[in-house]
Amino acid sequence: MRKTIIYLFLLINLQCSTVKANTNNIYNIIPMPVQLEKMPHHFELNKNTSVILDANEFGSLQTIKQFTLIVAPHFGLNIQIQNIDTASIADNSIVFFRDNTIENNEGYELYIRNSSVLVKAKGKQGFFYAIQTIAQLLPAKTYTSKTALEKINIPGCVIKDYPRFVYRGMHLDVCRHFFPIEFIKRYIDLMAFYKYNTFHWHLTDDQGWRIEIKKYPKLTSVGSVRKETTTFVSRDKDSIVIPGPYSGFYTQEQIKEVVQYAQMKNITIIPEIEMPGHSLAALAAYPEYSCTGGEIEVGTRWGVFSDVYCPYDTTFTFLQDVLTEVMQLFPSTYIHIGGDECPKEAWKNSEFCQVLMKKENLKDEMELQSYFIKRIEKFLSANNRKLIGWDEILEGGLSPNATVMSWRGVSGGIEAASQGHDVVMTPGSHCYFDHYQYLRDNEPYAIGGFTSVEKVYNYNPIPTELESSYHKHILGAQCNVWTEYIDTSSHVEYMVYPRACALSEVLWSMPENKNYESFLTRLSGNFTLLDAFGVNYAKHVLGVYGKMEKMANQKLYYVLETKNKNAQIRYTTNGKLTAQSPLYTKAIPISNSFTINAATYKNDKRLSNLFTQTFTSHIATGAEVLSMTECSGNYNPGDKNFIVNAISGSSNYGDGQWFGYWGNDCSILIDLGSEKSINQISINSIDKKDSWIHLPAKVSFSTGVDTADLSPYNEVTISPITKRIHSYKANKSVKARYIKASITNFGEIPAGFEGAGNKAWLFVDELIVK
Ligand code: ACM
Repeated sequence: MRKTIIYLFLLINLQCSTVKANTNNIYNIIPMPVQLEKMPHHFELNKNTSVILDANEFGSLQTIKQFTLIVAPHFGLNIQIQNIDTASIADNSIVFFRDNTIENNEGYELYIRNSSVLVKAKGKQGFFYAIQTIAQLLPAKTYTSKTALEKINIPGCVIKDYPRFVYRGMHLDVCRHFFPIEFIKRYIDLMAFYKYNTFHWHLTDDQGWRIEIKKYPKLTSVGSVRKETTTFVSRDKDSIVIPGPYSGFYTQEQIKEVVQYAQMKNITIIPEIEMPGHSLAALAAYPEYSCTGGEIEVGTRWGVFSDVYCPYDTTFTFLQDVLTEVMQLFPSTYIHIGGDECPKEAWKNSEFCQVLMKKENLKDEMELQSYFIKRIEKFLSANNRKLIGWDEILEGGLSPNATVMSWRGVSGGIEAASQGHDVVMTPGSHCYFDHYQYLRDNEPYAIGGFTSVEKVYNYNPIPTELESSYHKHILGAQCNVWTEYIDTSSHVEYMVYPRACALSEVLWSMPENKNYESFLTRLSGNFTLLDAFGVNYAKHVLGVYGKMEKMANQKLYYVLETKNKNAQIRYTTNGKLTAQSPLYTKAIPISNSFTINAATYKNDKRLSNLFTQTFTSHIATGAEVLSMTECSGNYNPGDKNFIVNAISGSSNYGDGQWFGYWGNDCSILIDLGSEKSINQISINSIDKKDSWIHLPAKVSFSTGVDTADLSPYNEVTISPITKRIHSYKANKSVKARYIKASITNFGEIPAGFEGAGNKAWLFVDELIVK
């Protein structure tokens, strides 16, 4: 009887009074946890909340302090160390309990109840990730409010979580451009927030040596300074020279500070010291370790250089001395030694190398590269470290204990894993965040390639071709951030976020829990946190996208879309976009020339970047494309109607407008629907010889009222529109219904040009009829 009364009392209490309604019921957690059960209540954090750490887990005190630091601007919470009985947790407390039954060191359980919060983990790594999850559940005002909050609500839930992969990495190249120590710490903060655990710090390259080495001071006094920088800022312009000098390096004291900082955030830093290639900066300081021994300059332009380390014994002594200091600074098991893109000419021309190859029975320079890496690996192994390198370390035979970073696609990773080596996947197609993330002409100049947030999200680090018994060798994946064209910290953030959010879910979350739509919803919530942290993230993914559609009436329309479910699209077709511009409700007909400006809005607040698209309508706009030669590879807009869609391809040949042909010609036949008076026909093509793209050998047009009886149109003349884009144009007044364009590929690339001896690419877009 007594029991029943107590039970009834509890029930009433639960339903009526003490349960605090979860009014802020948002769970924007990225990466998605293994199990998340949402609850309708919330926990109220206030100045009287007790934070209690299990006395058995005293070693996690520094980790738990990172939680109290988050709320410190609002209320100071002391940490009490106690023996914990999880069956009787006091009200208004947050308890960190060591639970040895949790298998994964990085795993945790989180119980956010109405009256208390219980965090279970095996130790500090798990507690750290539970804190990151809580940090994402806190409202953005926790981070932004200028006045102290009286309480902070955490939405109720039960979470059981652990990572899919043990290696969750982000890389940063600080050689092509240098980033200050404060930014490196911020980079690490954001990595930790998304549960990454490895920072690959690319510290040496041709264009700058960025780590102090006490025994070889010229590495920084000479090697960290380049006299100028030759770079590109636009696809339409030649390279420019930015006068120098450009310099920067980290002192050993700064590095120790960063390593310690990263350790607090459960992040291991893997330093990369490049060899045998990408070593101009070191050789400028110590030319005696090159094969020529001549004068060498720190690189002033991007690319690959023929001067590389020569495999003298003295070179190995130098590199071992450098690595000894590096190992004193970085406690990581792995040391990255580069190994990529090492041209072999210097070794071919070196008498010393040729004699060494004979002596060591090495059949070619590939085997000499393997000899080089194996010697370094032996040294690292003797110091209880493991060698990791780019997939070229497979060339000539892989060292016995090496781990491979597969960047030239996935084949290097498959090969290494099949030989029983561990692998980190970083394929350019999905993990290079120096690529474009959005195909518009107004994007900041990037190295090329296209890696959208969605493409990153859909990446699976386990290659489908890899036999399942080798899957265990795929440790995880990593994004690479090369900085040739990224010269400020804020631009790094723009290239990295939100793609790093997508990759974090690839690496942490279970495949069955992944869902792109759900990710985007959580991402929009995460954007408010990134705003609170002042991160310059790219907003396209939740912005406006446009696409051409041919409707049933055979007319072309332009459709605007957004993935942001909480936003509306506003647009103009004649000028400046404002919060008063019309809401987009239906497809826009393309019947004349105009520019659409559009963006997402919520409550009159603009959320996204400006989307802009110009249409230059002409007689053939929306004409039926009766036939068109199939494109080669990826340079295919995917819809042949794009050849007459009133949008001319931009200087970015990967913008989704251009039709690309590798070695072959292109032929296009269109139907204007009825006989029309025409005065001019033209088509554009691209000249970008350094990318193997050559202007056509010949362009001709023919017209007629019957496809079986077309007559040659007039002589074609060439005129440049921009530096890269050229117009092939002919004028004559005729009446015609059908128009044919025949564009002949340039053919074989001649000597003296990039790719000489290969087939040239031909790019065409917008067949314009006036
Ligand atoms: C690389 O991108 N060269 C590893």
